[in-house]
Amino acid sequence: MPRADYSARRVLLGEAETHMKLSELIQGVGHLGIPVCHIGEAALWYEQKLGFEKMQEASVFYPERLDMLFLRQKNLVIELFQPAPHLLKGIAERGTGVIDHFALDAPDFQPCAESVYKKGANLHVSTPKGCVFYEHLGKKGVRGINFEGPNGEVVELCHDYNREYDSGLTGLQGWSHLAVKISSLKRSLPFYEKLGFQKVMEGYLDTEEGRFQIVFVENHGFVLELIQVTGAALAELKQRGEGRLDHIALDVKDARQAFYLCRAEGLQAADTTVKELPVFSHGVRYFTIVGPDGEKIELNEQKTW
Ligand SMILES: [Fe+2]
Ligand SMILES: [Fe+2]
Repeated sequence: MPRADYSARRVLLGEAETHMKLSELIQGVGHLGIPVCHIGEAALWYEQKLGFEKMQEASVFYPERLDMLFLRQKNLVIELFQPAPHLLKGIAERGTGVIDHFALDAPDFQPCAESVYKKGANLHVSTPKGCVFYEHLGKKGVRGINFEGPNGEVVELCHDYNREYDSGLTGLQGWSHLAVKISSLKRSLPFYEKLGFQKVMEGYLDTEEGRFQIVFVENHGFVLELIQVTGAALAELKQRGEGRLDHIALDVKDARQAFYLCRAEGLQAADTTVKELPVFSHGVRYFTIVGPDGEKIELNEQKTW
């Protein structure tokens, strides 16, 4: 009997490999995972400075204690997670990782930036004078200002002049983009295409290190900014370990099928099996894959029963 079961299973998997692509299982972005040392303090910062609202809290105890808190600002969900006490030192010592920063959409940029600043958020060292205009992103440029989050993460407010915002829209509007610093667009673009992302905009930023080519890719309205760095910035990128922004989670229809399709499409899984966590109504099934520069991407299925 086991023999017959295995062969039937192989046939099914074989069918999945030929008829279904991983990109078809992906339904957009779920959340951005941020490791923290004091979950309550971090949550307060996001609530008070940026207007996030609590969605769900959960604690699990296997193999060790892990506290999680999901917060939402419009369509942007962040997962703050505080691991077991003996791991907190490592979290506190993390620097900026491959996932460089995340950005919230600010259609009325100036009032949004002023309001966050007045609430006592500190500017991040990457924009010491406040607002910056990146003129070579798309045809019309992008305006941004970077604040320092409660664990040193870079939180940008962003107005994209290439987009048409609904008139009269005020206040922060959730996701703008997530920026990943990469070593090679030639490697990263095919990788993100396998996850269903498509190029929507490009540009560059001239820095002391040379020109950083930038490509924006999109999947279900979620935008990734891939920044190809050069010179000393590339050497520095290669030194980066796990960062203050830990992972991005994409929603998938079926995590187990996605797990097999990742293998079939040559993507590197960091987990050997699909795991489960008791969060949201019926729990989640998930596993993590690793991008070309070590960025962690969680593929997450919310169970419906
Ligand atoms: Fe997560
Ligand atoms: Fe950005």
